[in-house]
Amino acid sequence: MLPALTTIEKPTDAPAREARAVGDQQARRGNLLARLLEWFGIEFHLVDGETGELLHCAFDQTARDWAIRGELCRAVANRGTAEIIEDETPLLVIAIPTHESAEATLVAVGTFVTSNTATPTQLLLAGEMLGIEPSDAAAWIRRQTCWTADVLLRMGQLASQHLAAGDRLQKLEREVKDLSTHLSTTYEEISLLYRLTQNLKLSSKDEELGALALQWLADVLPAESLAILYTPAADSMGREGRTEPLLLTFGPCPVEATDLAAMVEHFGLGLGQRPLIANQPATLADNWQWPAVRELIIVPVCEGPHCFGWLVAVNHLQGGEFGTVEASLLNSVGAILGIHNSNSDLYQQQREFFAGVVRALTSAIDAKDPYTCGHSDRVARVAVRLAEELGCSKKQVETIYLSGLLHDVGKIGIDDNVLRKPGKLTEAEYEHIKTHAEIGYKILSGIKQLDEVLPVVLHHHEQWDGNGYPKGLAGNAIPLLARIVAVADSFDAMTSDRPYRQGMDDAKLDAILRQGSGQQWDADVVAAFFAARVNIREIAARHGQNQVPDLRNWT
Ligand SMILES: [Fe+2]
Ligand SMILES: [Fe+2]
Repeated sequence: MLPALTTIEKPTDAPAREARAVGDQQARRGNLLARLLEWFGIEFHLVDGETGELLHCAFDQTARDWAIRGELCRAVANRGTAEIIEDETPLLVIAIPTHESAEATLVAVGTFVTSNTATPTQLLLAGEMLGIEPSDAAAWIRRQTCWTADVLLRMGQLASQHLAAGDRLQKLEREVKDLSTHLSTTYEEISLLYRLTQNLKLSSKDEELGALALQWLADVLPAESLAILYTPAADSMGREGRTEPLLLTFGPCPVEATDLAAMVEHFGLGLGQRPLIANQPATLADNWQWPAVRELIIVPVCEGPHCFGWLVAVNHLQGGEFGTVEASLLNSVGAILGIHNSNSDLYQQQREFFAGVVRALTSAIDAKDPYTCGHSDRVARVAVRLAEELGCSKKQVETIYLSGLLHDVGKIGIDDNVLRKPGKLTEAEYEHIKTHAEIGYKILSGIKQLDEVLPVVLHHHEQWDGNGYPKGLAGNAIPLLARIVAVADSFDAMTSDRPYRQGMDDAKLDAILRQGSGQQWDADVVAAFFAARVNIREIAARHGQNQVPDLRNWT
C-alpha cells in the first residue's frame, strides 16, 4: 500500500502538461476524421456530446445555426447509437457517437445525399443545411455519392461499434502497458527489499547495511543521489555509539550533513513522519535555501518510537519529479533500516549485559581466590593464542576466550579455607577442590549463551591418559577446547607466583610440558605451545595481576 504523503508541491509544469494533452486530443480527433473520410468518403463535423457545441466544421460546409442540431447530437450521445437526425430530400444527416475519453463523447455528424438532383425549393433548403449558397449546394449535391437511409444508418451503426471496439482495445493496450511497467517496477522493488532483508545480520553495522541500501536503491530509483543522515544516537535508546551526525551518500550529493539536518528542521520533520516530497516550484521559492536541490524525498529511518535518521533522494534523474511510487519504495527501505538499527541496539545491549555477567563472574572468582588473581584472564588469553596456533575457527576462538575466563567459576562453591590454604592439601581437601569443575558446570548451565563454554568448564582437568577428573575422559574424547584450556591453565598455574612459592622458571616448565605431552596433555596442544612459546610468555607477562578482562571482541 502506498504511504500517506506530505507533499510540498503544486502541479509543477501544468502549462506544459496541458499543451501535451491538447496536442494528444487534436491528434485523436484528426485520426477519427481521417477514418470516417476513409469509410464514408466525406468529411464529418465533430460535436461535443455533452454540450452540443460544434468543435470541428467540415471544410466544404460552414457553421450555420447549430442550436437545434446541437440538441439532437446531445440526445444521440446519450442514447449511444448512430441515428439519422435530419432527412430533408435530397439530404440525410447522420450523427455517430464515439467516446473521446472515459468521460467525453464526441458526435460525428455527416451530410449525405439520396439523389444528385434537387428542385429549386430543395436546393434552397439544402443550402441552408450546408451553410452555403443554393447554387453551390447544387454543385455540392452533384459531386456526392448517393446513399439510401437504411444503408447509411447501418454503416453509421457499424462505424460506431467499430470505433467503440477500437477504444476498448486501446484502453486494454494502455492497461497492459501500465501493468507491465508496474510489474517491472514492483519486481525491482521487491527484489531490492528482499536483498536488504537477507542482509539484516545483527552483527553487521548500521552503516554497512545503509551503504548497501543506497547502492541498491540507485539501481531502481531515478535519483541523481541518495543519502542517509544518521543522527546522534544518545536520544533514542540510551545506547553508546554515535555522538555526531553521520552522512552516507551514493551519487553526487549536492548537500552536506548540516544541510540535511537543516532540511529536517525546515520541514518540521519528526517521529512518525510520513514521506515528504518536495518538487518544483516549491524548491524554486524564495525561502528555499538549497538551490542545488530541485526535487527531494525525505523518509525517516525509524522503528516505533525510535528515529535513527533520515533517508533522502535528491534530484530526479530524468528531470521529472518524485511521486508516491518513489516515496513508497524509499519508505519501505527506511523502515527496514530502522528495524535493523533497533534490533542492533537491542543486540548490543544484550551483548553488553552478557559481558557484564561474565565480568561479574570473573571478579567473583578472583575475589574468592586472591592468590590467583588475574589467572582467569591470563588463561583465557593464552588459550586464545594456542587455539589460533592450532588453526581453530573464529567461533572456537571466541568460545575459548570465555571458557578461559570462566573455567574456574566453580571455585565460588569451594570452602575459602581450603581454597586459600597455603600448604599441602589433605586428600579430602583435594577431593573437595576437584568438585569445582562440576560446580562450575552447574552454575553456568542455565545461561544459554554459555552452552558452548560448559564442556570446557566441566572437562578442563581431564588428562589425555584418562587420569584426570571429573569424568576420567581420555584422548580425543576430551573436548578440544578443554584440552587447550588444560595446557593454558597448567602453564599459568606453574608460572605464577604464589605467596608460598615462586613461579617456575622457563626451563623447568618446558621440561614438565614435554614430559607430560601425550600423557597429561594433548601432544598437539603442547606442540602449539612450543611453536608460540615466546609470544605466549609475552601475553602472560603483559596481563599480570588485577587485569580487567577485555570482552569487547568476545561477547
Ligand atoms: Fe580448574
Ligand atoms: Fe584454573
